[in-house]
Amino acid sequence: VCVTPSHQSPLGMAMSLPRRRELLNWAAARQAVVIEDDYDGEFRFTARPLDALKTLDRDGRVFYVGTFSKSMLPALRLGYVVAPAWAREALVAAKHASGLGAPALTQAAVADFIAEGHLLRHVRRMRTAYAQRRRVLEQMLGRHLGGQVDVLPAIAGLHLAIALRNGVDADELTRRAWAAGVGVEPLSRYWVGEVGMQGLVLGYGGISAARIPEAVRRLSRVLGTL
Ligand SMILES: Cc1ncc(COP(=O)(O)O)c(C=O)c1O
Repeated sequence: VCVTPSHQSPLGMAMSLPRRRELLNWAAARQAVVIEDDYDGEFRFTARPLDALKTLDRDGRVFYVGTFSKSMLPALRLGYVVAPAWAREALVAAKHASGLGAPALTQAAVADFIAEGHLLRHVRRMRTAYAQRRRVLEQMLGRHLGGQVDVLPAIAGLHLAIALRNGVDADELTRRAWAAGVGVEPLSRYWVGEVGMQGLVLGYGGISAARIPEAVRRLSRVLGTL
């Protein structure tokens, strides 16, 4: 089972502690392993994090997976796995077989970047910046799209998910939004089979806070055409 407990991808909620325990019990009963994909947990805007599944795991079932794509940049193509001891040798062999590993120079540079404290400083600075973007986005959504969308609760990350009310077709809205210069994603992209919710993913990792109000105004105008 692969899960995103710190920040469900794409909807955004955190998995509660009882649900975390339930999942681990479920995995134990079925001899299953759990992949905990903590892809953007560095950017948490509220209180203390819940214990990671990896922390709660008592019988070596959880693979904790992290990435530098969000905390630094996707082009690095570097991530990491905290694996149970029994799986490490097989994982290293699988990674080797899949393309001779990750680039050594980039790994060395990232290791220095971390050791010298730059990553921590960068994450702290960006947490403040992303929190501000998110605040602006929430305010603007309330001002321009209130009554037409529900903002799904999220405590972390670089995107917000919104559910569209009134039967609006999110795919069509996405096409029109892109044509108006606003890059959004429909929730349908994340669904397997029948789409369960009409909604959008609004990323703020790559837009300045100053440009968010205009983007939301345009989205609101486009929504008015549907
Ligand atoms: C759910 C999820 N997991 C992991 C990642 C990171 O993937 P990668 O490290 O391959 O860039 C992303 C990136 O957007 C993501 O959305």
